[in-house]
Amino acid sequence: MSILAKHGAYKHAYDALRASGVDPLNVRFDAVLSPTEGVIGGRKMILLGTNNYLGLTFDPDCVERAVEATRGQGTGTTGSRVANGTYGGHKELEGAIAQFYGRKHAMVFSTGYQANLGVLSTLVGRGDHLMLDADSHASIYDGSRLGYAEVIRFRHNNPDDLYKRLRRLEGVPGDRLIVVEGIYSMLGDTAPLREIAQVKRETGAYLLVDEAHSLGVLGETGRGLAQAAGVEADVDFIVGTFSKSLGSVGGFCVSDSDDFDIMRIISRPYMFTASLPPGVMASTLGALEKLQAEPHLRHDLMRNACRLYDGLRAMGFETGPEPNPIVAVAMPDQETAVMFWKMLIEGGVYLNLALPPATPSNVRLLRSSVSAAHTTAQIDTALDVFAETGRSLGFLTSGRRRAAGAL
Ligand SMILES: Cc1ncc(COP(=O)(O)O)c(C=O)c1O
Repeated sequence: MSILAKHGAYKHAYDALRASGVDPLNVRFDAVLSPTEGVIGGRKMILLGTNNYLGLTFDPDCVERAVEATRGQGTGTTGSRVANGTYGGHKELEGAIAQFYGRKHAMVFSTGYQANLGVLSTLVGRGDHLMLDADSHASIYDGSRLGYAEVIRFRHNNPDDLYKRLRRLEGVPGDRLIVVEGIYSMLGDTAPLREIAQVKRETGAYLLVDEAHSLGVLGETGRGLAQAAGVEADVDFIVGTFSKSLGSVGGFCVSDSDDFDIMRIISRPYMFTASLPPGVMASTLGALEKLQAEPHLRHDLMRNACRLYDGLRAMGFETGPEPNPIVAVAMPDQETAVMFWKMLIEGGVYLNLALPPATPSNVRLLRSSVSAAHTTAQIDTALDVFAETGRSLGFLTSGRRRAAGAL
């Protein structure tokens, strides 16, 4: 009997998935040719599931800066900043992020996941109250476990429910921290941040926004949803990641909060892990500069996102509620979802098959994430492959438009 036998239910579900002849949880790229093209199983694909929102992974300046930093300072830091020292790149990157957000302080983490773990577990602890949107990312849930605060979930994107739950805490000691995301990673919907900021003001809570999918995507200068909604002054902490619009890896938190730097000697996911390597910091810095110097990238991205979203809805597919670079299509059941996903790959389009428990409300999704680097022709090809696959699986009655719904 294996020690892992306790996970038998997962094994059974995974075996059933693989019995269909594909393993969507273990896709291997033979080659990645550009931000929008790769090779899977010997076949050239349009990459439509990468989170490479600004298409910067192959940007020549970013690549060059990474190479130069690696040549000059080595492949890794081989330790944590607390024990083994801070490199110039860490400070430079923190300074650039703080400046970009117009905040006093910034701290970088080795991943976005660790940023949530490190920040949430330090901001609130025993006796405090963590108000989480029910559809929060796994890193937010995992961060909440690490800090021992009371976790109170409110209904997804429902400020009234949040308000009600905070009112119930009236007179109860402890800090309250509301956590929401800029763009939610599965359906691509945005948080109603103006209303949430209003609740925060009325109840005296703190507010943290995870802008993982909205940095470089939303807002006049790309700072994310808080900027787009005009409520930056109400947001106490912004968390984000370098692994999406900035095309590298790493996470960060910015704030004007006094005593911010105390996190550096308390936050275990910051202290007890190796810091970002020089090459990653250099390319991230380059990408942050590009994000600011080339606002057309955000416009190209939204143009592509709307083209895909509108095209799918016009065909009758059920999508997420608003056009954003994450475009999700609902599938009626797992078997159809797997079959549809497989046929898209056979048609030359790779995107993400998202299944419970990774999805909200147990929906099965074909999740695309659009890039500024996609050409109009690539988006149109993807739409054609969707249409063909939809028709052959009986989704779309040819020539007739079904009413499109929103998830
Ligand atoms: C909302 C949100 N926060 C944090 C993360 C973690 O970021 P990373 O993958 O860079 O660790 C993700 C990743 O998808 C995310 O969607």
